[in-house]
Amino acid sequence: MPIIAPSLLASNFLRLEEECKMLNESEADYFHLDVMDGRFVPNISFGLPVIEQMRKTTSKTFDVHLMILEPEKYAEAFKAAGADILSVHIEACSHLHRNIQQIKSLDMQAGVAINPHTPVFLLADVLGDIDLVCMMSVNPGFGAQKFIPHTLKKIEQLRKMIDDNKLNVKIEIDGGVTLENAKSIIDAGADVLVAGNTVFKSKNPKETIAQLKRM
Ligand code: DX5
Ligand code: ZN
Repeated sequence: MPIIAPSLLASNFLRLEEECKMLNESEADYFHLDVMDGRFVPNISFGLPVIEQMRKTTSKTFDVHLMILEPEKYAEAFKAAGADILSVHIEACSHLHRNIQQIKSLDMQAGVAINPHTPVFLLADVLGDIDLVCMMSVNPGFGAQKFIPHTLKKIEQLRKMIDDNKLNVKIEIDGGVTLENAKSIIDAGADVLVAGNTVFKSKNPKETIAQLKRM
């Protein structure tokens, strides 16, 4: 069964405690937390104090997706705020290997996020050091965008790289995941489905999470 990671970016921030409670009672595995700096991506979301508060509501895995420049400046703070998985963008890191070592040394799982234009082969020399690849299936910065179909080919390529090298790296797909395309994403080789609008804008979010879980 796929791991389901609802993205809180699409939640109702006025009712954040209730949204967290709903996820707690649901079959969701991760809380996907999108942090934006208005520099790496053209949008600003939420940050450390909000994550710190949410941490009090749940013991589920906090999957923090940093869409920020210079993530090394904040890795320690995100650990303190409660991150379990910390993903940094390959496009934002000149010294990616060092960033990964830093995350691991802080006792978090290390993720690398890649934009739609970034070929998966660029991950070859770090794949053995990481726990998760967050493959963007939209251009990062905003929720509710349309899934880029070419991503399916990239999932297959990455699945092959991971399996050929007998590695234990999860493939997470982030952006435009719907009840309609989820099965094809899993069939291509994905392990984790991020879903923002599909979950939070549905009539029955818990039921939608259960449906994604059973794809
Ligand atoms: C986009 C974020 C995504 C986003 C997904 O920059 O990284 O996690 O919240 O939202 P949906 O599922 O609505 O495309
Ligand atoms: Zn994300």
